[in-house]
Amino acid sequence: MSAGLPVRAEHLDHEYEAEGERVQALVDVAFQVAAGERLTVVGPSGSGKSTLLTVLAGLQRPTGGRVLVGDQDLTALSETELVTLRRQHLAVVVQDPRRNLLPYGTAVDNVRFAQRPAGRGVRRRDPIELLRSLGLDAVAHDRVDRLSGGERQRIAIAAGLALDPDVLLVDEPTSALDARSRDEVLDLLERVAGEGATLISITHDRVVADRLGGVLVLDGGKVVAP
Ligand SMILES: Nc1ncnc2c1ncn2[C@@H]1O[C@H](COP(=O)(O)OP(=O)(O)O)[C@@H](O)[C@H]1O
Ligand SMILES: [Mg+2]
Repeated sequence: MSAGLPVRAEHLDHEYEAEGERVQALVDVAFQVAAGERLTVVGPSGSGKSTLLTVLAGLQRPTGGRVLVGDQDLTALSETELVTLRRQHLAVVVQDPRRNLLPYGTAVDNVRFAQRPAGRGVRRRDPIELLRSLGLDAVAHDRVDRLSGGERQRIAIAAGLALDPDVLLVDEPTSALDARSRDEVLDLLERVAGEGATLISITHDRVVADRLGGVLVLDGGKVVAP
């Protein structure tokens, strides 16, 4: 089981340029999360939440500032080093559920698929055991496209845990769900965080933020409340 890694953002700026317009999506964002703790980024639409997540995940380089995962500065790594760091330590569940899972595969297929890139020295969990530990054994052999939105989201999180990441990043994990499915996904995320991984979640939903805790409020790309 992962022990988690601390994550620190220092003076993060991110600027997009689209059709000659500049958008300052992140402005001097700074915070730290200790190993195994939670950070829940909340803010209105357009406040920079998804940008922050992709920057923390090493999927996008910020235009300024640093991101430290453990003692490694993501912004100073080469592409190859980033790929290795991501594979060994990070997992991302993106906002669009269709981009996280193979729809025609079962839950087990999806966990195995997520384990494919593992090289030597990378922890692999048994897919059935992993799904059972997350209360998903009943749907382990069902095709993902036949399951409910809430079940799919939980399988996407299970697939994210397939390589036992030190940091799990999830973007709007409950935005498309009814209240009951939302609570099941939140129960699952709390369990994940309880097991050791550092959990960074993004949400526009205050209920979700209050439940997960460790709240950081973004507005207009700036941290407006700790
Ligand atoms: N790829 C992009 N190109 C240009 N502007 C973008 C891009 N992605 C996001 N933005 C802009 O950056 C700002 C922050 O967006 P985003 O990080 O998606 O916020 P949130 O996830 O909080 O809704 C918004 O003004 C958005 O329009
Ligand atoms: Mg977003």
